[in-house]
This record gives sequence, C-alpha cells and structure tokens, in this order.
Amino acid sequence: MSTAPFIVTTQDQLRAQIQAWKMQGERIGFVPTMGALHAGHLSLIHQAKQHADKIVASIYINPTQFSEGEDLGTYPRSEEKDAKMLCEAGCDLIYIPTGSLYGEHHATSLHVGGAALGLETDYRPHFFGGVALIVTKLLNRVQPDVAVFGEKDYQQLLTIRRITSDLDIPVEIFGAPIVRENDGLAMSSRNQYFDTKGRAIAGQLNIIMRSCAQEISETRNIKHATDTAIDALLEAGFTSVDYVSVADAVSLEVLPHSLGDNEARLLIAATCKGVRLIDNCAID
Ligand code: PAF
Repeated sequence: MSTAPFIVTTQDQLRAQIQAWKMQGERIGFVPTMGALHAGHLSLIHQAKQHADKIVASIYINPTQFSEGEDLGTYPRSEEKDAKMLCEAGCDLIYIPTGSLYGEHHATSLHVGGAALGLETDYRPHFFGGVALIVTKLLNRVQPDVAVFGEKDYQQLLTIRRITSDLDIPVEIFGAPIVRENDGLAMSSRNQYFDTKGRAIAGQLNIIMRSCAQEISETRNIKHATDTAIDALLEAGFTSVDYVSVADAVSLEVLPHSLGDNEARLLIAATCKGVRLIDNCAID
C-alpha cells in the first residue's frame, strides 16, 4: 500500500525533502506534468518507479509554451483529483508551485535546434522554447536522477534529450510508450474538449496513422502513403491537417520520399472540431 505523498508548494520545501532523500542514498525520479492527469501520466510514474526509489511529480501549467489564442486560460485543471491519482500510482512527492515560476525580471530564453526544428515548430513556433525553459527550470529545482516523458510528444522527448545533453544537466531521460483509449486514440488532457461527434472523428486518427505506417513499411514509398492519409483524415471529418510526415526516429530529420536504413517514425498533427491532436508511431 502506498503512503500519501506530500504536496509541496515552495522551492525550499521541495529542496529540503529531496536533499533528505539524497542523504539516505535514494534515487530520485521525476515526472513533470501540467495536470489534468490520465492513465498516460500514471504510466510515466510507473516507468519512473522502475528506475528510482522516490518519485516526484510536478503540476504546473507553463504559460511560456502557449501562444496567444491557445488554451492557456481554459486548460483543464483538476488538482485534487490529480493528487489522488498520483497518490494511488505511488508518487512520493507532488510539487505544485503557487504563482508563477518566472520571476518578475525573468529575461532568459533558450533557443532550441536539432529535433526541435520543423514539424510542431512550423505550426507552434513558441512551443519548444517554452518547454525548454520550464523543463530546465524544473530539472534544476528537483535535481532528479531520472526523468520520464511520454512518447506521445515524441518531438518534445527528443528535444529534451538534446537540451539535457547540450546543457550538461545530470539526469537520465526515459521515454514511455503512448497509452491509448479503447479505440486507439492517444490519451491526452485535451481529449476532454470533444463532444460525442468530435470524439468519434478523433478515434479515426490512429487507424489512419497505422494504415499509413503499414503502407510505408510495405512499399517504402512515403509520398503516396502520406498523401493518402491526409485525404483520409479530411474525409473522416478532420478540418485541417498540419502534417503527416515521416522522420528519422533519432534526428527527426524529415524524409520526403522514401525510407532509408535508419529507424523511422510517422508523426501526425491534425485538427478536429477545434481540437488539435498529435500522434506518432514507429514504422517497422
Ligand atoms: O508534456 C507536458 O505535459 C509539458 O510539455 C511539460 C513537459 C510538463 C512541460 O510543461
């Protein structure tokens, strides 16, 4: 049976508890979140528990990764329920900072390159700069031995690996497989925005993605399969498709025509009923 985790709201409380654990030789695992938790987040906690003794989760809706017009103001908030779920999943400490993590005179930004270029950045240019900043700040505050991020945000995962390596942040980054609903829709806090009709359309995304990945692995022809997938998404009721792209699974360099010998990943972003969804899968 898990004991109830502490909730801390200040950096001093956070540091004190983590230092006490480190003095006892405990390895610290960290799962940063923006709350509105679902089974996908809990799988990150479970993954962290495989690599660490004490698990810290944070809940902080990071304003710098939202652009004007995005859903910062309406992003779902459910702290009490989140804390209960984290407790049941065996989390030891929950960090819920009160107020902004950016000081009044904050003036630092991070320019991210490599895997952060293209794909999401073409449509949300502010996004990875904001993620880089908050993840760096949280890693500095928590100072974990390991941190876990979901593969649903595949480009984010690769970008965080790059940042921690480039900035010599002493943490091991693990990716956790995507957790899906019964119909295969990747779990996301934003899925709760859908009405019944939108939710049914959203369920088509992974079906179309899988069939696209299969066609590519059989024919090696990327262009035909991705064009077919875009048509299928629009036909299914998606209002727009930002990209259906195949990229090198490590560098995330987009492969426009045919598969090479390296591992490849299919990545999709499309909007349905005003909700932008992303998903990805390996190409066998
Ligand atoms: O993936 C998320 O939920 C967020 O981008 C993260 C990593 C918690 C940073 O705010």
